[in-house]
Amino acid sequence: MASSISTSASVTKCLFPVAGLGTRFLPVTKEIAKEMLPLVNRPIISYGVEEAVESGCSNIIMITGRTKRSIEDYFDTSFELETLLKTRRQTELYDKIQKISAMANILYARQSKPLGLGHAVLCGESFCQGEFFGVILPDDVFVADVAVMKQLIAVHEERGGTVVALEEVPRGEVSRYGIVRSEIDGNGIHRILDMVEKPSLDTAPSNYAIMGRYVLSPSIFPLLAEGHVGAGGEIQLTDAMKRLLKTEPVWGIVYKGKRFDCGTQKGWLAANIELALTDPELRPVVLQVVEDHRNR
Ligand code: UTP
Repeated sequence: MASSISTSASVTKCLFPVAGLGTRFLPVTKEIAKEMLPLVNRPIISYGVEEAVESGCSNIIMITGRTKRSIEDYFDTSFELETLLKTRRQTELYDKIQKISAMANILYARQSKPLGLGHAVLCGESFCQGEFFGVILPDDVFVADVAVMKQLIAVHEERGGTVVALEEVPRGEVSRYGIVRSEIDGNGIHRILDMVEKPSLDTAPSNYAIMGRYVLSPSIFPLLAEGHVGAGGEIQLTDAMKRLLKTEPVWGIVYKGKRFDCGTQKGWLAANIELALTDPELRPVVLQVVEDHRNR
């Protein structure tokens, strides 16, 4: 397939779809944004925003919905709090709080109905202004030496085109993910030939699943605007990418790092334990609790 895309300038914009209802985390997500649940002492979403900034994308748009206003408040300046901390000369805490709002340039757009991930991405079209852009699904939290979005952008800069993060999942779990069919080259980069959202075990073309990081071509927008309804009755990003494959290259890399699916209670709990174990003050607390249980 001849590519119409030449090697590209860097990606500087990132889109965060955060308008989902978080039903797997009910009842807490009835009124609290899933993205604001704590991972140790910071909300889940802050890990994704830091990853974007580390990857050179400090221009961010969040596609939000009802019950998500606390995300906006979190990244806004907190004048009263900052004044109080300054008055009390709590400099370290002041710096920490001040950095949150200074970290990135964040805009917000509402997805009025949760019609699916693809539809949420479409809501950010004007922000992307015809450029390639990153997409971060903040439920997927990565612990990695090199930010996973940065790993994807490196491939985009070298080869052009769209890039997705891949993980080999157990075959029994393929129906939870978008799954690709691909050819792997000598550098371990997948040229994606086909993809399918949430296939059954028998029809899955592989066990390489797309995880929540993408560098997307702006050509995705007209395809999303066609409004095809796919798996789960939602407008799926995977379906639009499958059509994109016909005209532009789509690459995949098995990211280097460890992923926690914080959209589920188990994944969120595991991430909290793992992160607490890396914190010198919290590690003894976790180990003590486990030890106490062993001795019961
Ligand atoms: P998920 O399906 O994993 O998240 O969507 P969800 O809908 O919030 O949670 P469950 O499945 O009900 O528990 C993947 C990503 O797409 C966003 C979600 O916020 C999440 O970041 N999304 C999904 C939207 O922004 N809008 C939608 O209509 C659907």
